[in-house]
Amino acid sequence: MDKKELFYSIARPNIRDLEEYDPGPVSPELVRISSNENNLGVSEKAMEAIINAVSECNRYGDSRCDGLREKLARKYGTSPDRFVIGNGLDGVFTMLGRAFIRPDDEVVCGELTFSVYAEMAEIMGGKAVRVPMTEDMGLDVDGFIRAVTDKTRMVVFCNPNNPTGTAVGAGEIRKMLDAVPEGVLFVLDEAYIEFADESVADGMTLLDEYPNLMVCRTFSKVYGLAGLRVGWIAGDAELMRYLYKVREPYVVSVPAAAGAEAAIDDTGFLTRSVDTARNEKKRFYDFFRSNGIKFISSQTNFILLPLGDISAPLRDGLLKEGIIVRLLRFRGSGIIRITVGLPEENTLLMEKFMKVYDAACRVA
Ligand SMILES: Cc1ncc(COP(=O)(O)O)c(C=O)c1O
Repeated sequence: MDKKELFYSIARPNIRDLEEYDPGPVSPELVRISSNENNLGVSEKAMEAIINAVSECNRYGDSRCDGLREKLARKYGTSPDRFVIGNGLDGVFTMLGRAFIRPDDEVVCGELTFSVYAEMAEIMGGKAVRVPMTEDMGLDVDGFIRAVTDKTRMVVFCNPNNPTGTAVGAGEIRKMLDAVPEGVLFVLDEAYIEFADESVADGMTLLDEYPNLMVCRTFSKVYGLAGLRVGWIAGDAELMRYLYKVREPYVVSVPAAAGAEAAIDDTGFLTRSVDTARNEKKRFYDFFRSNGIKFISSQTNFILLPLGDISAPLRDGLLKEGIIVRLLRFRGSGIIRITVGLPEENTLLMEKFMKVYDAACRVA
């Protein structure tokens, strides 16, 4: 047997044909507006704490990140035992899969949403049930309710949703929570919530009412710490115990925990990040409107352009200009996701955009 066949036969059947994650081209020379990072950089306070923590790296840290959990508990007016800290939210979803998903379980998620939910289900031998998007490319609340069957173990609702930037209010989240049986776990991924306006649900305010609800947030987006890898999940303390059973000890490094703790206190950095994203989004909306470019209004730090066949040549053309945006697919058609960058980066994109767009239209 050749090596390829041999190793294929050794790998678990449900992961053999999974696609590996493709981050797309990244290079320091490019204007990077493809991964929904915070291009303002790292908060000074977080940086100082990370550097100071390096001198403690000969020791294992505090395995459960008690300092960070206590700080989060104070911020959200609840108790530390309701939080579990992970190696980014990606790490949190690994824990959710390991703790709760059995073979053949169904995980309900959006048709066009963050890809990790479906992967988590499939890696564990479960099945992702993808709910078709609404006509205006939002997540379909009634569709989510209809998709729940007696095989459903978990519902994952991304609010605001990546990559559409759409979001729903508390009434819609309650409608789903009231309809879903208590034995179905409801995971609300709020990775981008800080960028949203008041009309968008804040899952943390619903935790006490719904014991099957869990809320996820991350330090990778508004906090500007994507490379540090810290995310968290909050839920009923009894439920969180099962995540601790599968959580790798010391999974969050000492500098990562210290940086995240300090980042919470840097309110000036947070305000600047939110304001920049909001102001720059308005500039983009005006630009797209005045040039007749289709876009979806966003509650996040990115904007989706459903441009179909123009998308691939547009991405390639922008890459030649030194700007990297994200090309994704929806129902066989291309879509472009642009992260709202620094004002000067956005200005550069706007300067180059129409020339590249017109050329892309000719190719498409
Ligand atoms: C909706 C959503 N959830 C989770 C994540 C993962 O975040 P982290 O960097 O904390 O793993 C992302 C990252 O892009 C995301 O868009």
